[in-house]
Amino acid sequence: LKDEALAQIGAAQEVRQLQEVKVKYLGKKGPITEVLRGMGALPAEERPKVGQLANEIRRQIEEELEARIRELEQKQLEEKLQQEKVDVTLPGRPVREGTTHPLNGVIEQIEDIFLGMGFKIAEGPEVESDYYNFEALNLPKNHPARDMQDSFYITEEILLRTHTSPVQVRTMEAMKGQVPVKIICPGKVFRRDTDDATHSHQFMQIEGLYVDEGVSMSDLKGILLQFAREMFGQNQQIRLRPSFFPFTEPSAEVDISCILCGGTGCRVCKHSGWIEILGSGMVHPWVLERAGYDPNKYTGFAFGMGVERIAMLKYGIDDIRHFYTNDGRFLSQFGRI
Ligand code: PHE
Repeated sequence: LKDEALAQIGAAQEVRQLQEVKVKYLGKKGPITEVLRGMGALPAEERPKVGQLANEIRRQIEEELEARIRELEQKQLEEKLQQEKVDVTLPGRPVREGTTHPLNGVIEQIEDIFLGMGFKIAEGPEVESDYYNFEALNLPKNHPARDMQDSFYITEEILLRTHTSPVQVRTMEAMKGQVPVKIICPGKVFRRDTDDATHSHQFMQIEGLYVDEGVSMSDLKGILLQFAREMFGQNQQIRLRPSFFPFTEPSAEVDISCILCGGTGCRVCKHSGWIEILGSGMVHPWVLERAGYDPNKYTGFAFGMGVERIAMLKYGIDDIRHFYTNDGRFLSQFGRI
């Protein structure tokens, strides 16, 4: 019996098997328990001998079991350590890092330039009321200039904003007549255009507004020249051309000279001479008054530029759709701007 048990202990490869051996030989229904239980039937002089022998066998089996369990556990531990060994000399796998979207990068650059000139950043809703998008900007219903901006209407009175200019009015109203009002507002705008290489039904604009006593057209020109130089190189020139917007008077379109310095050095653009980058002007007295500023006391300038256009000029991008299609080969070229 003892030999049989010890042989099984030796052959066991898992702790679980040893548990079974233990139950089989030492358990309540095992042979040793049975012998001890049956002692009463033995002659008195044989009892101590049989008892001693049975206990001795039990002790030996228990010892062997424990020794084998320890041995197996040790082996398991070693195997586990072997499997989980880390080779610290292996080169690591590179982690793929995201890059800045070029539009976000350019917005941040523009924000930095204007923050440096004392502007604050304002925001406004993308779903806008007819009042802020048109009415308060001197574009009454039936005004022909509304045709210039074919709009996405949600209801008769609510639409997706067609420009960031409504934020001019919202900011002035919120400032309640205090000066200076000196903000830029980046944001999405929407127009019912057919998408092609240079048009998109959704794009980004940055609005600028500066209202105070004695703000003049030359302030506008100075600020925009500084902006053009920081954005496209220190030799940059700008040109103001007369234009028309119902909410500015006088109005001007602003061109930059055609040597554009961007992320990859300087390029001469395809067309000769000048290239248009934004619309601007002196805030119309009617708009100031409607927004709570006395036009006899205060003057202001405003401008609005398309972010995609600036980014395309700066980085030599030839199709606006690249910004929206999320092709990693395009996006990864900009790194962390
Ligand atoms: N809102 C005009 C546009 O979308 C741009 C503009 C802004 C013009 C501010 C003048 C003043 O074209």
